[in-house]
Amino acid sequence: MLVDTHCHLDFPVFDQDRDEVLSRAKAQGVDYMINIGSSLEGSRRSVELAQKYGPVYAAVGIHPHEADDFSWEIEKEIKELAKKNKVVAIGEIGLDYFKGYSQKENQLPLFSTLIKLAKESNLPLVIHTREAQADTLRILKEALPVRGVVHCFSGDKGFLKECLDLGFLVSFTCNVTYKKADTLREIIKSVPLVSLLLETDAPYLAPEGLRGKRNEPAQVRPLAELVAGLKGLKFEELARVTTENARRFFNF
Ligand code: NI
Repeated sequence: MLVDTHCHLDFPVFDQDRDEVLSRAKAQGVDYMINIGSSLEGSRRSVELAQKYGPVYAAVGIHPHEADDFSWEIEKEIKELAKKNKVVAIGEIGLDYFKGYSQKENQLPLFSTLIKLAKESNLPLVIHTREAQADTLRILKEALPVRGVVHCFSGDKGFLKECLDLGFLVSFTCNVTYKKADTLREIIKSVPLVSLLLETDAPYLAPEGLRGKRNEPAQVRPLAELVAGLKGLKFEELARVTTENARRFFNF
């Protein structure tokens, strides 16, 4: 059994064949998926998918890219969505100074607002952070106690230690398979097993050999095999531990 802890099956790119995508996931032993909302519309769709499909759970949130359009009305609706059945996290939220699609001055209050909502809702955070580690850590430290996962982890050992010190989990995607990802593969070796999650971030980050194509949750299987090798574990053991971690963290 495996869990894809971060995918975006609500995206229109899955509209034509979503059922097949879910069948292929099941065939690869990916029994559960956390569908992550990244906009208001995406969060609505995330909740709908969780209601429609047994293996899908939902996170609701507003991606930092959307921060410029954030409003009180959106906040109110996200708050309502967070109460729905099978909503297991607030995310993805965070800071992204790399793409700069939204102003930093808007990203910071959005991030804080949704952390507050997560705490009120007693839900964990799914964090996106890019070129913004210092601000991310500062805000999270101020918000403690709070539970979270840093998704698509791509930092160095120093950042890993900071995340672990917060009690956060770290999650790895198929970019671990990339030819030039030696540093990332090295980092994985030093992640305590109890803090490790797996994800695809589908439709993004298709593995080596399929780069540029649409990714999908079934790819958690080869990712888990690769990570098991890095950790010197049997696949079954790695699958068992990461699934336990996911179910404990998202509480399903
Ligand atoms: Ni994502």
